[in-house]
Amino acid sequence: MANLFTLGVASGEPSPDGVILWTRLAADPLHPDPVRPGNMPNRPVEVRWQLARDERFTSIVKEGATQAQPAFAHSVHARVDGLEPGTDYFYRFRTGNELSTAGRTRTAPAESSTQPVRFAVANCQRYEHGFYTALRHLADERPDVVFFVGDYIYELPQAQHPVRPLERTGETTTLHHYRLRYSRYRTDRDLQAAHAAAPWIATWDDHEVVNNYDGSAAFRARRTLAYQAYYEHLPLRVRPAAGDLQMFRRRTYGQIADFMVMDSRQFRKPHDMLGPAQEEWLLSRLRTSPVKWKVLVQALFFARRFVPGPAPNLRMDAWDGFPEQRARILGLRTPGLVVLSGDVHNNWASDLKADFMDPASDTLGAEFVATAVTSNPSPVDSQAVLAANPHLRFFDGHRGYLAGTASGTEFRVAYRGVDFVDRKNAPVRTIAEFATEGGGIRRVDV
Ligand SMILES: [Fe+2]
Repeated sequence: MANLFTLGVASGEPSPDGVILWTRLAADPLHPDPVRPGNMPNRPVEVRWQLARDERFTSIVKEGATQAQPAFAHSVHARVDGLEPGTDYFYRFRTGNELSTAGRTRTAPAESSTQPVRFAVANCQRYEHGFYTALRHLADERPDVVFFVGDYIYELPQAQHPVRPLERTGETTTLHHYRLRYSRYRTDRDLQAAHAAAPWIATWDDHEVVNNYDGSAAFRARRTLAYQAYYEHLPLRVRPAAGDLQMFRRRTYGQIADFMVMDSRQFRKPHDMLGPAQEEWLLSRLRTSPVKWKVLVQALFFARRFVPGPAPNLRMDAWDGFPEQRARILGLRTPGLVVLSGDVHNNWASDLKADFMDPASDTLGAEFVATAVTSNPSPVDSQAVLAANPHLRFFDGHRGYLAGTASGTEFRVAYRGVDFVDRKNAPVRTIAEFATEGGGIRRVDV
């Protein structure tokens, strides 16, 4: 039988004592038969895993076995616990005589830790739009943790003039289609490298299901299929049940960063992006967290962004469509508030204001908006937008990712960019770097 580890390995959801290890067996990831995803037999397959302190696996600290189930496309989500905090580990899988490549992961630091946290932020990786060179560079940085803030796949029909074509060009509407779309993305070596380099903490935006969807019943059947495929391809702790998937959650990195991972889609209703339970969870932690940085990890542009010219001037699908809920979050005046976001396929940096219409009002936090890994941006008159929104401090039009460090004194973010994605091997460089000590941002690159 051919190698079954064709989709790579991954880890995620790090806690101080544990992590999830992921793989999915697929003899032929793009196999066209809907009842045999990956051309795997319709029965459970045993997969063994090993975790070691060293890359050569000479000192194994944990090992175990699990059954990859056909009902979950032979994906594996192995829960490992009893690990040391703030520690690098290496892991690999075996089935029969076949060995996977090795991945590197890292547990979250102990609750009392004041060690800085090195993180990366990426999002929006439309396959046809280009090569994942940015993710290869991200992998080379070996951050402590990677945040992926949405549009892991695009459900849309193949884009015009694809840099690299899809095999199946129609819109994804069935579980089989979603599995094929994830499989196509996950065969990419640079994406595999980014997963193998560090644990991921992911949330979604709309294109994992369908453009601009919300929590209404109209999307229920479709999202049930899409959430299942999402789970099958990401290192999540929680499994979907009856079309629901618990996505909002907190990952705490010692005394330094409380990462509040948010779900801007599943509970969305008119005037309410988060739903009452998620809002209460978020506000309650913002009120009580003893940790230095309270970091909202989510998909959508948080600051007001007025676009001069003909209507629409505000993007109602993002936070500008939910100003009351945004005001309730900012109204807590939480010290150390930072928002990480994506969605718009360009880099931005912003001060978060008590009143976005009044530049003299208090600055209550900072937002760092990560550009796309590959997805094309819509045209934007960035000079006009910056002029119309004085709290927006920075725009840049490269593709890339963010690389940051949170410490006890500052929260610092470098905007890493590549000059092209239509060919391989673009070098990466730092376009700009910003920091905050709490409140507003300042440019720190030289
Ligand atoms: Fe996107």
